[in-house]
This record gives sequence, structure tokens and C-alpha cells, in this order.
Amino acid sequence: MTTLATVILAAGQGTRMKSRTAKVLHPIAGRPMVDYGVEAARQLGSQPPVLVVGKQSEAVREYIGDRAVFVEQTERLGTGHATLMARDVLRGRSDLVLVFYADMPLLRAKTLRRVVETHTASTAQPALTMLTLVADDPRGFGRVVRRADGTVAAIVEEAAATPEQLAIHELNVGVYVFDAAWLWEALPRIQPTPPKNEYYLTDVVALANADGRAVLAVEGDDPDELIGINTRVHLAEAEAALRRRINRAHMLNGVTIVDPATTYIAADVSIGMDTVIWPNTHLRGATTIGEGCVIGPNAVLSNATVGDDCTVIASVIEDSTLKNGVRMGPFARVRNGAHLGAGVHMGNFGEIKKSRLGPGVKMGHFSYIGDAEVGANVNIGAGTITCNYDGVNKHKTVIGEGAFIGSDTMLVAPVTIGAGALTGAGAVVKQPVPDGQVAVGVPARVIGARRQPQKKKKT
Ligand code: UD1
Ligand code: CA
Repeated sequence: MTTLATVILAAGQGTRMKSRTAKVLHPIAGRPMVDYGVEAARQLGSQPPVLVVGKQSEAVREYIGDRAVFVEQTERLGTGHATLMARDVLRGRSDLVLVFYADMPLLRAKTLRRVVETHTASTAQPALTMLTLVADDPRGFGRVVRRADGTVAAIVEEAAATPEQLAIHELNVGVYVFDAAWLWEALPRIQPTPPKNEYYLTDVVALANADGRAVLAVEGDDPDELIGINTRVHLAEAEAALRRRINRAHMLNGVTIVDPATTYIAADVSIGMDTVIWPNTHLRGATTIGEGCVIGPNAVLSNATVGDDCTVIASVIEDSTLKNGVRMGPFARVRNGAHLGAGVHMGNFGEIKKSRLGPGVKMGHFSYIGDAEVGANVNIGAGTITCNYDGVNKHKTVIGEGAFIGSDTMLVAPVTIGAGALTGAGAVVKQPVPDGQVAVGVPARVIGARRQPQKKKKT
């Protein structure tokens, strides 16, 4: 079996980003750029990739952790020099070496695999196989010079190209698979190119030709894979392209996206069949949505777990769970580990923080529930507030099953409302209310047993 090692070049300074943050840590579709390359290498079944980083790379190392092996290029002397930095850790460790650049986040594992497979399938024992793309806009990329018989003669960087070479539309994407033994021997032979005297990895093509070794080229089929990031303009371009790709995959999986151009779904989100996403919806982090839901317009969900058949309109959910059939919004906010049981209804202008709501709870209008445990089928009247914070500590509110909390009740925590109890409108509850009792007033006092309301006669 042939073994594959991967080298990802990420030591460039990214000066044109004009940022305090390392270029490869800028997020695209909610994930730092460098993640895409590392993840692609993993999908290829490569050994953990070697990431070539520059000075001040602590944040990158910390973020990637043990998903890659780090080597440092202390001086930025070009892509050939950067690749050479990986030699000590990789020489003798693999048959093939895949090299690509960390600033090309749209590259798919599928495409990388095609380059590897073309290389291994060839009987010509190629020194390398590279990825090219034909495009109208050359984007300042290296041009691929082919001979009359179609074999690759050289990659010429734009700055060094003749007018005829500048007219070539076949571009060097920057993905190469090498015969490992040949690569490690050839890299030190690259000569610096004036005026900047950088060692260009692209010069390996000419070296292979001089050695009489074959150079193969695979033509890519997705122009988006050409999007490399040097500026924030490119960053927006990559974001849009990735968004198109992500949205398309969800649509092909049975999700209706009413307006893909204004639907922002992060790379790790999963969505069930027959869910409809309305415009201006943002699904971030590790959000999971079940089947048959209606999300948006104007919903923002981060690390949300949403069951089946839920409706979320113009609301914000963070780090929280909705069980099946929850209806929410417009203008609700749920956060910090909130858990809404099946069939909960949460109407406009409510907030739920770090609380569990049992199944069937209704909270129609203007309420804040924080640090609370709310039993099944509780009715929370308009304007109800859990006064959970005394200025120093947070306290818990417990509301038993089937309780009826009257409009504008202040629940001064810690406090317990018994199952089936009732509070009157405007009550300020500081003492526990026993099961089935009614409490009214300021502060509320218990006045007697709760009568169950009579069912309305159908007229
Ligand atoms: C490079 C290619 C070009 C190709 C283009 C595709 C070379 C000489 N040119 O040009 O043919 O069309 O990519 O995107 O390779 N890096 C280092 N250390 C260095 C220099 C660069 O690690 O000393 C890293 C950068 O962080 C970056 C990658 O290598 O991730 C590519 O470098 P960059 O300067 O962006 O090369 P391009 O000019 O885009
Ligand atoms: Ca680049």
C-alpha cells in the first residue's frame, strides 16, 4: 500500500489582510480557514498533515492542537523553501507527499484524491502530478506551460511570464502530489528567483523535466477551487462560494432554502428533510435541526439542537435545545443551556436562560425565565419575571406541573410554586406557594385553594 503524507503551507504573513489575526485563522462559513486544509487531509486518509507555520504562530498551533504536526519556517523565503522545512520530519516516512497551500479553503478532498489517484495510477513513474484549472480571469496565478504533446513543460509565475505565457488560461492551483524520495532530493536544487530571491516550489516542474521524469497534470472541474485568499475581498468571495456549496448540499438533501443568497449556514450544521429555511437566517456552530421545521425569516441559531416540526420565527437561540413541535417567536431569545420540552409555545418578547421547560409550557408574551425548572403544561402569563439575581448570586425558581402564573407575576428566587397552584396578576411571590393554592398581592399571600376553571361551553 502506498503511504501518503501531506504538507500544508501556512507560513506567509498575510500582510494584505491588514489584520492582527493570522490570515489562516480568519473564519469562512464559521470555521477558521486553516481547518479546511487540515480536514481535507484527514478525509484523504493521510497521516496528520505537517503544517508549515511562520513566527508568531502560537494562535494557529493552539487552535489546531494535535490535528497536525508543526514545523516552523523562520524566514519567509518562498513556497519551495517552506516545503523543504517539512523534510526532516517526513523523509523516509511516506511514498507520496501531497503539498498544498493553506489559503485555498475551497479545495475539496474529492479533488485532492483525484490528483493522488492519477499519480498512483500512472505507469510513467511521474515525479509529480499537479492540479490545474482553466479560467478566464488568471487571478495572478502561475501559468501552466504545456508542450505540443500536452505534457507539462513548466509553471511560470505571472511576474516572470512573457506576453505569450500571460495569455495562457490554464492556471496552477497549487496542489501537487510528489514521489517522496524525488521531492526531498530535488527541493534543495531549487534556485532563488530574482528580484525577491524566493525559492519557488513551482520550479520543481522544470527540475523534473531536467531529470527526465514525467510531470502529470489533472484539470479541476470546480472553478470555486481557485479562490485563494490574500485580501478581505477574497475572503468575502470565498465565503459566498462556500455558502453556495453548503446550501446546495442541503437542498439536494431535501431542505427547502427559499433564498440561498441570504441564508448563512455554517460548515458543521445538519438539517433534516422537509425543513424550510426562510431568508436572512443564520445557522452557526454545531447547530442541528430536525425534519419538517420552519426556520426564519430572521432567525439566528448558534449551537442549537432543534427537534422535528418546530417553528422559529425572527428569534435567537444560543447553546440550547428545543424538543419536537416547539413554536417560537417572533422576537424570542433562548440561551445558555435552555431546554424547551415538546410542544412548548414561546411567543413574542420572551427570554429563557439556563432553564428547563417541561412539555406543553405556554409563555406567550413579554417574560423572562432564568435559572428555573418549569413543569409540564405550566401557563406563564404575560410579563412574568423570575427575579433570579439578588445582586450577588443567582437563585433558582421551581414551578410545578400545571401551575398558572398570572400576568406580571414577579417570582423572587429562590422560590417554589407548587403543582397546579395559581398566582394572581401582579403578585410578588417571595414565599413558597403550596400545590393547588392561590397566592395574590404584594408580597403575595396565600388566600385559599385554587378552583379548576370550568371548560367553556361550545357555542
Ligand atoms: C502560489 C504559486 C502560484 C499559484 C498560486 C495558487 C508559487 C511560487 N506560486 O502563488 O503558481 O498559482 O499559489 O494559489 O508557489 N508560504 C509559506 N512560506 C513562504 C511563502 C508562502 O508558507 O515563504 C505559504 C503561504 O502562507 C500561502 C502559500 O504558501 O499559504 C502560497 O503562498 P503565496 O505567497 O500566497 O503564493 P501565491 O503568490 O498565491
Ligand atoms: Ca496565495
